[in-house]
Amino acid sequence: MDHFTYRNGELHAEDVPLTCIASQVGTPVYVYSAATLTRHFGLFRQALDWTDHLVCFAVKSNSNLAVLKLLGDLGAGMDVVSGGEYARARAAGVPGDRIVFSGVGKTIPEMRMAIEGGIRQMNLESEPEMHALSALAHSMGATVPVAIRVNPDVDAKTHEKIATGKSENKFGIPISRAMEVYAEAAALPGLRVVGVDVHIGSQLTDLAPFRAAYLKVAELTRALRAAGHDISRLDLGGGLGIPYRRDNSAPPLPIEYGQVIRETVGDLGCQIEIEPGRNIVGNAGILLSRVIYVKKGEDRDFLIVDAAMNDLLRPAMYGAHHDIVPLIQPPLGAEQQGYDVVGPVCESGDTFQKGASLPAMAPGGLVAFRSAGAYGAVMASEYNSRPLVPEVLVQGDHFAVIRARPTYDEMLGRDSIPAWL
Ligand code: LLP
Repeated sequence: MDHFTYRNGELHAEDVPLTCIASQVGTPVYVYSAATLTRHFGLFRQALDWTDHLVCFAVKSNSNLAVLKLLGDLGAGMDVVSGGEYARARAAGVPGDRIVFSGVGKTIPEMRMAIEGGIRQMNLESEPEMHALSALAHSMGATVPVAIRVNPDVDAKTHEKIATGKSENKFGIPISRAMEVYAEAAALPGLRVVGVDVHIGSQLTDLAPFRAAYLKVAELTRALRAAGHDISRLDLGGGLGIPYRRDNSAPPLPIEYGQVIRETVGDLGCQIEIEPGRNIVGNAGILLSRVIYVKKGEDRDFLIVDAAMNDLLRPAMYGAHHDIVPLIQPPLGAEQQGYDVVGPVCESGDTFQKGASLPAMAPGGLVAFRSAGAYGAVMASEYNSRPLVPEVLVQGDHFAVIRARPTYDEMLGRDSIPAWL
């Protein structure tokens, strides 16, 4: 459930009519609902309330400081994958001991930043990285808590670009080699092995792959303990999918996901960390856009809107579907029309949806792309020199711009022309 609903014939974010945001901030613009974020975060907490746990929000899904602050204040930890994300989490007031650092290519400066600033745990993804961290921590006189990300070779049954748990993927070390890598880690200076980490993919709509992966993690944890390792934490990653269409059957709920965790690893007495991103913020955000032209094609009508693939990349990149709805609710039984909804960028791939069913639209009309809170603004670019899309946060009956739209001068001001030109 989210807080984007029609009231008095107009789509609202909580108590704010979205037309109001469109006229005051302009379009395109991302709009997030604080109540929805709070609710979704609470669902994960509730799903794990049977055990000691930390819900580490996957910052990559939405890294706006206001979103991180809101979640951090609710007690969320953060899962970061770069120095930039670490800096954002800290700037949002999240203490280092609630931040886990994932990612296959952490650089020395990034690792140093985390050690100096404080880190709950580094999730190691390879032996070379393990040696690099050990040497760095040792040279700094530090001991860093680490978990090793294992690749369980489980098919997450999701889009191939966002599956991460098969042996052909670049992530983690093969679970078959875990015992020897843990033995090596335990002997290295500067590292303190505390846990096992796994993440098999994103937008999973079935619990079976989670169950399969977590059973393998449980088996490994028992073997590691038998070999003398003190495994007290399990980081089970993120990945629980969200409904992108109103009409299809919804993926499992966080509470059901929590049950799978309990059934597979619950008896180990470990502290449980999870890293949900999309499930917390995906349906807590929409992208608001205005129709520029309605263009009659030979065999179809194009709705040319002012949002484009640079603002919301998912349809172009993954063929992803985002429901597109009008801001003004059509009267019951009103005739729908088929439109190819496209942006102004000069690529045919800049198509959001073909044959989208909408009431008759006219230039100036407003639409919302639903389920756009995760991997939306964070993947935006300035392609075609379109200023980076702004973001707004709504809470109750008020809203704030949490990232302003850059002016052309600001956009151009980042470039410089060398004196010799
Ligand atoms: N933890 C790790 C280590 C991850 O790599 C990811 C996502 C997550 C947690 C969070 O997964 P979530 O709960 O959000 O599914 N840009 C793609 C999604 C990429 C996901 C990458 N890793 C998209 O727009 O679908």
